[in-house]
Amino acid sequence: MIAATQEITRQNIQGTTRVPTSYQPMKIQNDEWTMILGDACEEIKTIPDNSVHYIIFSPPFSSLYTYSDSERDLGNSRSDVEFLAHFQYLAKDLFRILLPGRLMSVHCMDLPRMKEREGIIGVKDFPGMLIRMFEAKGFVFHSRVTIWKDPVTEMQRTKALGLLWKQLKKDSSMCRQGLPDYLLTFRKLGNNPEPIKHTSAEFPVDLWQRYASPVWMDINQSETLQRYSAREYKDEKHIAPLQLEVIRRSLELWTNPNDLVFSPFAGIGSEGYEAIRNGRKFIGIELKRSYFNQAVANLKKATYKAKEPPQSHIDTFQQAVLMDRTSTEKGAVKNGEE
Ligand SMILES: C[S@@+](CC[C@H](N)C(=O)[O-])C[C@H]1O[C@@H](n2cnc3c(N)ncnc32)[C@H](O)[C@@H]1O
Repeated sequence: MIAATQEITRQNIQGTTRVPTSYQPMKIQNDEWTMILGDACEEIKTIPDNSVHYIIFSPPFSSLYTYSDSERDLGNSRSDVEFLAHFQYLAKDLFRILLPGRLMSVHCMDLPRMKEREGIIGVKDFPGMLIRMFEAKGFVFHSRVTIWKDPVTEMQRTKALGLLWKQLKKDSSMCRQGLPDYLLTFRKLGNNPEPIKHTSAEFPVDLWQRYASPVWMDINQSETLQRYSAREYKDEKHIAPLQLEVIRRSLELWTNPNDLVFSPFAGIGSEGYEAIRNGRKFIGIELKRSYFNQAVANLKKATYKAKEPPQSHIDTFQQAVLMDRTSTEKGAVKNGEE
């Protein structure tokens, strides 16, 4: 989501006008997936209790980035308090629809506090806010994985004061580390009626040790749906889609084939795309029509891809760093995080 940070314009930082919106919900579906156009807080009510095997999503990051002028857009909140007040209605239903014993993963990061918006430079504990809210709705905090991100790439993209080398020489009291992504996972208490079993062939111990690491150093930041569809969807560069490898690993670890996967903030469909490619089913809800249309197009493209044998464990870390930096150099966008 740091990509979203980079894209912030002064107008976004100052907030957009909020427009009360009514909408005509729309549903496009087939045997494998369903995409619903609408407000997740309302449309989730159509999903039965205890019917979803796994939930994975990247929420709007409080008011860091606004996707639309709709007052239904969670990114269109005036403050963190308002964001959480809005989100908690959805959180209650996320708990309701999840099968007992199963999991929900939420992608997030610490949020930069911006001088232009809050008068000070600093960092906010957004993951902590989410953890407290989901615990209050009955979820058990189950795990946190840190997704390593290159601070040089962040510096190139955001020009954040705290990452600049010239700031180190001037006064390093303002210098800080880069902001990684986190994948927070929560569990609904109860016995899992459909255990998720793996074989040694499909999940060898060295692969498990890699996935069990508290820090995923080897996520290729450039492997996103947007990268694949950039030419078609140039106008939607702000979406900052979830890295496909993060979704893939989570699905491998926490779902069975044919399980139903849900994303309340489906965006351009990354979670659904990987679910279908990996032989799972998907329901997604998205508020913004242009993203909804892209999600439908992406889901149509996704077809079940039989699992290839696990990759030899080459050092994908260096490869990921190189690819990340190369893509930044090609498409660097400046902004004013700080
Ligand atoms: C971080 S993006 C999700 C990107 C998605 N993970 C992907 O990879 O394509 C958050 C999304 O939430 C959507 N959104 C915000 N408020 C919403 C609401 N009330 N109901 C449904 N979607 C909403 C935004 O339009 C945006 O597409």
